[in-house]
Amino acid sequence: MMPAESRVRLGVNLDHVLTIRQARGTAYPDWQEAIVAAERAGADGITMHLREDRRHVQDADVYLARRIIQTSMNLEMAATEEMRDIALEVVPQHCCIVPEKRMELTTEGGLDVIGHLARIKALASALREAGIVVSLFIEPDDEVVEAAAETGADAVELHTGTYAEASADALENELDRIRSAARKASSLGLIVNAGHGLHCDNVGAIAGIENMHELNIGHSIVADALFMGLEQAIRRMRAAIDAGL
Ligand code: PXP
Repeated sequence: MMPAESRVRLGVNLDHVLTIRQARGTAYPDWQEAIVAAERAGADGITMHLREDRRHVQDADVYLARRIIQTSMNLEMAATEEMRDIALEVVPQHCCIVPEKRMELTTEGGLDVIGHLARIKALASALREAGIVVSLFIEPDDEVVEAAAETGADAVELHTGTYAEASADALENELDRIRSAARKASSLGLIVNAGHGLHCDNVGAIAGIENMHELNIGHSIVADALFMGLEQAIRRMRAAIDAGL
């Protein structure tokens, strides 16, 4: 087995376990058990996105999750005062700022850091003062990476959605964009994470990028869990990440 310090970390996003609960308003599936199972299977952290429309995770889930998670909690949130106040009460180990409204989005889907620099800077500063490691979910674009560094955030999470959907012809170009953004981020002292749309067949090339610290993966893990169970799906993802190194 690879030594823990040289492995790319795996953050497991459990939002879609809660999507199933919300679809019926039932008490099941037991999302708290999902946290325990994910950690038992080797998740290095658990990610939950408290969306402004509360479509899956609810406020009470976040407070409870903070007490259950033994590894590290990553709260994904919009850049709003409401979310800032919740994060400052919950104090997860990590917060990842994500766009939710059209005006906060770049054309490809990351946070428009350049257009909202002052607001994001103030938010990052408030969260960091509480001891939270702050990450910005951005497009793999050198200019946006530079703006992210200006906000004082600790990390960037590079949006891999375009890579995940790229045709065979466009794939190498997309990978180059991510590699270049990762190099730039690293040279500016930022921690480099990535995520969105990753599955066992496309994760290897991203895991193999120099300085990659953590991958946040949800949809494909929960989908695989239907057929093999959550723990096996996470172990399979862990093996696919390690094989990419
Ligand atoms: N990272 C961020 C910031 C996200 O918003 C999401 C999706 O919720 C993910 C990673 C995980 O993406 P996926 O569910 O496609 O694995």
